[in-house]
Amino acid sequence: MPDSQPATYTSETIELLSRRVSVRSYKPDPVPEAMIEAILRAAFRAPSSSNIQSYSVIVVRDREVLRRLAPVTGNQKHVAEAPVFLAFCADLTRIAHALDVRGHSVADNNMETGLVASIDAALVGMSASLAAESLGLQGVMIGAVRNDASASAKILGLPDRVYCVFGMCLGWPAESPEPKPRMEYADMVHYDQYGKQRTDMDMAARLGAYDSALAKHYRGTGRATTDDSWTHDMDKKFHPWLRDKLRQQLKERGFDFR
Ligand SMILES: Cc1cc2nc3c(=O)[nH]c(=O)nc-3n(C[C@H](O)[C@H](O)[C@H](O)COP(=O)(O)O)c2cc1C
Repeated sequence: MPDSQPATYTSETIELLSRRVSVRSYKPDPVPEAMIEAILRAAFRAPSSSNIQSYSVIVVRDREVLRRLAPVTGNQKHVAEAPVFLAFCADLTRIAHALDVRGHSVADNNMETGLVASIDAALVGMSASLAAESLGLQGVMIGAVRNDASASAKILGLPDRVYCVFGMCLGWPAESPEPKPRMEYADMVHYDQYGKQRTDMDMAARLGAYDSALAKHYRGTGRATTDDSWTHDMDKKFHPWLRDKLRQQLKERGFDFR
């Protein structure tokens, strides 16, 4: 187990990560295409499970496409207004071809294929987010494209065996939100085995402390919340179950999470 001193090591990357926040309001200034290409080329250096590289990115600037996509995401204003929207997709078309030329089929693939493709897309997305922030752009990831994976796929023109895992609004920031507090380091990190060094696994007390910290943060930003902020929001979000049609919609796209 390491010492209990706070981290003293830093670097440009650590500092970039330490101050990152989701930004949902952008200046109208254009984001050069060459900048997006530099960001994505860097992001494609992300590791890829078995080098499968099972992702594609749709760079969306067409206002009409975003106007149609916004309602799928629950009319998120920043989706309609983003100077650039990157759709990070899990893409099994290339692996399907590789199997096809050898007389095999990816049609009866199992959960692992869909999972690694989704993980690959997420790693590229986070890498792109960091690369973008290193150039002064900011943005927010948009999981709400999965509110209706079929509608998102149609609007983005995705073929079979491709689904949009999440999107990302990007632009020059027109706001600088305070960083949202995170849960305690000691709640998230374990050494050698889960909970081995922990004597205080009192979940209610620990989440209660986070609820208070988050409620304070939200009230400081003028956002209404309850005293049990995080616990309340999670219950509201995940009960009844979120996106219960997603499994069927992804199955129809060729991702069988069974
Ligand atoms: C995969 C993913 C999907 C997200 N989807 C949305 C979204 O649809 N709309 C939105 O406004 N924020 C979305 N977010 C942003 C989160 O709400 C945000 O990261 C979280 O509240 C923590 O805040 P912070 O990023 O400012 O630290 C998403 C984040 C991730 C990682």
